[in-house]
Amino acid sequence: MFRGSLRESPAHTPDMEQQRSSPRSVVVVTADADLLEDVLSVTAAVGLEPEVHPDVSGLRRRWSTVSAVLVGADQAERVAGLRLPRRGDVVVVGRESEHDALHRWSLELGASVAAFPTGANWLSGALAAPGSRGRGPGTILGVLGGSGGVGASTVVAALGVVAARDHRSVLLVEADPYGGGLDLLLGAERLPGWRWPRLAGARGHLGDLRGQLPHVEGCDLLAMARGAGVGGRDPGPEPLEAVLGSAAQSHDLVLVDLPRASTPASGAALGMADLLVLVVRANVGGAAAARELVADLEVGCPVGLLVRTDRVRSLTPDAVAEGLDLPLWGVCPDDRMVPLAAERGDPPGRSTRSPLAGACRALLDHLPARGRAA
Ligand SMILES: Nc1ncnc2c1ncn2[C@@H]1O[C@H](COP(=O)(O)OP(=O)(O)OP(=O)(O)O)[C@@H](O)[C@H]1O
Ligand SMILES: [Mg+2]
Repeated sequence: MFRGSLRESPAHTPDMEQQRSSPRSVVVVTADADLLEDVLSVTAAVGLEPEVHPDVSGLRRRWSTVSAVLVGADQAERVAGLRLPRRGDVVVVGRESEHDALHRWSLELGASVAAFPTGANWLSGALAAPGSRGRGPGTILGVLGGSGGVGASTVVAALGVVAARDHRSVLLVEADPYGGGLDLLLGAERLPGWRWPRLAGARGHLGDLRGQLPHVEGCDLLAMARGAGVGGRDPGPEPLEAVLGSAAQSHDLVLVDLPRASTPASGAALGMADLLVLVVRANVGGAAAARELVADLEVGCPVGLLVRTDRVRSLTPDAVAEGLDLPLWGVCPDDRMVPLAAERGDPPGRSTRSPLAGACRALLDHLPARGRAA
């Protein structure tokens, strides 16, 4: 029923693949002796002897011919000043204490980030397998509503709140440009931190985004910005891939609130998801709408159902699962406190004894092993 659709990052062109297949050439641009020492210990470990440039004078000539360019934080401003064309496999390297500057230059150059000392592991993996997404061990869980207003965004937020209480590191990612705002749902609309527009230039590995994003109920949150119009709110596939790939390194669980209408960003998210939860209402209309959605869904990971029951229930959860030919991963009962809490901006799932929190705990406990690893 589901067509596999794992995609390659569009940032990597066939030309670049060809260049990479020849003996690999790496340029390091830095005049920082300590940083250079750290970088050279990583390149030596993967059997590479980079060309070292203490400044940017020879960089334009080498920019499009080498396999990878490692830009020291000390030279990043000068590299940006050259206004070179965008290319893949550029990494801004520096120290964790320079976190903010590294992220700023990474967005400016469309480059990955390796912050020493912890970034050394990622960098050696990226140099050993160029073009790889460097996917980390965290689980990327997509959540999709089978029909409008079924409670998908509420489930994303509540799963995050429940998982964070269980000491998991969680990132909530809003990828629905038509949604009402995960920040509103969590009462986080006034919290400082980056929203999607700040990450519009994100490419490759972004390092750890914790500290840059709003943090609410134990979860990091990447929400849409308001007022940009739907066109300005869709994150786009490359930034979404960069965020999800990087977050899977830094967070245990990455929860993505997906739009029902297909967008370039949602296609990228479905391509990277390890598991997809489809929230379906337990009535004939809800099941019929979900059937249409499922028929058009292109996803290469396991998909399961969270059936949202109403007080007037016309179908059993098992009947919904049977009708859609999908496994039943959980049941989310109607909870009249949920809309009231949402209006107040009280995070859903906060009350440990609420039916919604119970449904989320059960879902998290019974999820199948991560799709990619399984
Ligand atoms: N388990 C629940 N019980 C009762 N009401 C709920 C439940 N879950 C969500 N709701 C309410 O349903 C409404 C829609 O919820 P939500 O925005 O989460 O749905 P959605 O599927 O994301 O909608 P959209 O299609 O707009 O993205 C909200 O008023 C919310 O408070
Ligand atoms: Mg929603």
